[in-house]
Amino acid sequence: MSTLATKVLGIDFENPFILSSAPPTAKIESIDKAFTLGWGGAVLKTITPDNLEMIEASERYASWKIGNKVCGFENIELLSHLTIKQWLEGIKYLKQKHPTKVQIASIMAPVIKDEWQNLVKVFNNSEADAFELNFSCPHGMPEKGIGMAIGTNPEISAMITGWVMETAEKPVFVKLSPNVTNIAEIVKAVEMAGADGISAINTVQSLMGVDLDTFVPMPNVNGKTTFGGYSGISVKPIGLRCVAQIRQNSNLPILGMGGVSSWHDAAEYMTVGADAVQVCTEVMVNGYGVIAAMKQGLLNYLESKGFSSPADLKNRAIANISAHEKLPKQTQVYPHIDDALCIKCGKCAMICDESEHSALSLVDGHINVNKDACVGCSLCSHICPKSAIKMG
Ligand SMILES: Cc1cc2nc3c(=O)[nH]c(=O)nc-3n(C[C@H](O)[C@H](O)[C@H](O)COP(=O)(O)O)c2cc1C
Repeated sequence: MSTLATKVLGIDFENPFILSSAPPTAKIESIDKAFTLGWGGAVLKTITPDNLEMIEASERYASWKIGNKVCGFENIELLSHLTIKQWLEGIKYLKQKHPTKVQIASIMAPVIKDEWQNLVKVFNNSEADAFELNFSCPHGMPEKGIGMAIGTNPEISAMITGWVMETAEKPVFVKLSPNVTNIAEIVKAVEMAGADGISAINTVQSLMGVDLDTFVPMPNVNGKTTFGGYSGISVKPIGLRCVAQIRQNSNLPILGMGGVSSWHDAAEYMTVGADAVQVCTEVMVNGYGVIAAMKQGLLNYLESKGFSSPADLKNRAIANISAHEKLPKQTQVYPHIDDALCIKCGKCAMICDESEHSALSLVDGHINVNKDACVGCSLCSHICPKSAIKMG
């Protein structure tokens, strides 16, 4: 029998699905509902000192869609608008009602030692189970020298982590930005400064698009915009890459996120190093109820593989990620065309011809593969409209 239960930094999670710090964790009443529906934990919407000025814009979102399916959001939302007192009361209420659910206090303050340490002291005396340091918000906050302005600078990241570690009486995760050239550099800096764990990724800095009549980019805030943070299923490859790079450079526990929309995504994150996953955009698109299929799917998968818990999945793919020069290049694969599926449209032959290799041709209603010209790149298998081409 497999279980979804897992332990991270000594904290028991009844399942590894955690709501990330975002609108779905901005209100006590909604976190209450999410816990009732089965989420294992929640990172609270980032809490700041009460006097930090935060004026939101309208609109706050732009989306990239294929048909009606949201593939990604850009948002320019700022941080929590609840006061510290409201959070303290809310955390207490939630812990009394849902004692087995994990609450992680996400915090951010100006780069002033007392401001960070005071915030930590306040939540030391709360029922929160851990801290997450938001070093990674890419909009609004960097202009004040915080958010991503911290997480893109290894020295400042280490300095603030050090301040927090002097004071914190609960485990501390540092939440990192993908908007850096070398995420390993930041990981090593915060690990040296004493961080207990890493959360990654926050949103990817982005510009969603431009209205070609008005020349106003999106999201449109009375005719202006600013660069925002991109999230959702289309950032998953960036999140996976960052988590894998973090794992290649550190043994710290990782809460992985970025585009998790199914149990399958969660399992992939675990294979590249995540101990548990966080979810935001999928919930903003489809609601808290998505947790039921995520939990059931992951449990079925663990059972089918004979794994006893999510911890058995951790790091399984890491050894299979190497430098390009170390890839085993002695063998080559070729396309195999399934004639029953192929509609003889000739697209694969056209693309192969126009993208370098000219190895495919449509002859007498059949796609021929010229093995002397084919380099086994696999492009044809990706662009076939009927998925009729398999490499092998
Ligand atoms: C509207 C919105 C608000 C967010 N606010 C915060 C925040 O306050 N603190 C934080 O650490 N991350 C914040 N995030 C980032 C998410 O927690 C998460 O890192 C990111 O969206 C990637 O996960 P996803 O692809 O599942 O959405 C926000 C994301 C969105 C979309």
